[in-house]
Amino acid sequence: MIKYKQQITQAADFISRHIGRDPQIGIVLGTGLGPLAEEIKNARAIPYGEIPNFPESTVKFHNGRLVLGDLVGKSVFAMQGRFHYYEGYPMRSITLPVRVMHRLGIKTLILSNAAGGIRQRTPAGTIALIRDHINLMGNNPLIGPYDEFLGERFPDMSQPYSKRLRDIAKDVAAELDIPVIEAVYAAVSGPSYETAAEIRMLQTLGVDAVGMSVVPEVLVARQLGMEVLTVTVITDQALPDKMLPVSHEEVSNVADQVGPDFRRLVKGVLKAL
Ligand code: HPA
Repeated sequence: MIKYKQQITQAADFISRHIGRDPQIGIVLGTGLGPLAEEIKNARAIPYGEIPNFPESTVKFHNGRLVLGDLVGKSVFAMQGRFHYYEGYPMRSITLPVRVMHRLGIKTLILSNAAGGIRQRTPAGTIALIRDHINLMGNNPLIGPYDEFLGERFPDMSQPYSKRLRDIAKDVAAELDIPVIEAVYAAVSGPSYETAAEIRMLQTLGVDAVGMSVVPEVLVARQLGMEVLTVTVITDQALPDKMLPVSHEEVSNVADQVGPDFRRLVKGVLKAL
């Protein structure tokens, strides 16, 4: 526990030496939002591999980096690439960056990701604001020895995704003429995609979209009292009676196509904050 606390402080101290202005907003740039990092002004980029105690880079992460700077006038701590549970990292490592953000004074977290839509009303290309979630990862980043610095032992989850931020996002989307829906998200461990029987189960549970990230970060952010907005791109539609093979390539292509609207929306939200 002391070690975890030290890991967080060491990483935060290291990053604060690279910061011009105190970051106000944390952003995790998932599939489709990555290019937003290129629009950050006065940017200082730090490869994850150089930050003490950040999980060790896997091949996929050769360009995973933290970008600090100004985006539409807001000082941001942007993660270009995130750590996933299916890569084999412990939950505490995946969520260490969120604890570092909190330590640096960040109170607002904007997350993005790709997910599969499992309803008629969630075709590929849909942009969804996550309204609530079901954690089916079989693990929780808050499990483990407890210390006050982590936040509350039993954090409330009655409103993990801020209604205030969702309302702002909906207003911005309407102004920009970008259709958005609200969705209940289920997080699974992956890395295999779902079977037809699993999709049917998720539908019965009231799920609209399924993916392999976000929830660990949200649980930690809420434990620390941070306000969270999650914007998801539905990259593929999985309906149990007409299952089509899903590929990572398809997921990436759809995320790229939706990318421009997705980025306009997130910038609009930042501006409005
Ligand atoms: N299932 C799980 N995760 C995903 C999917 C999916 O269909 N699409 C993108 N991430």
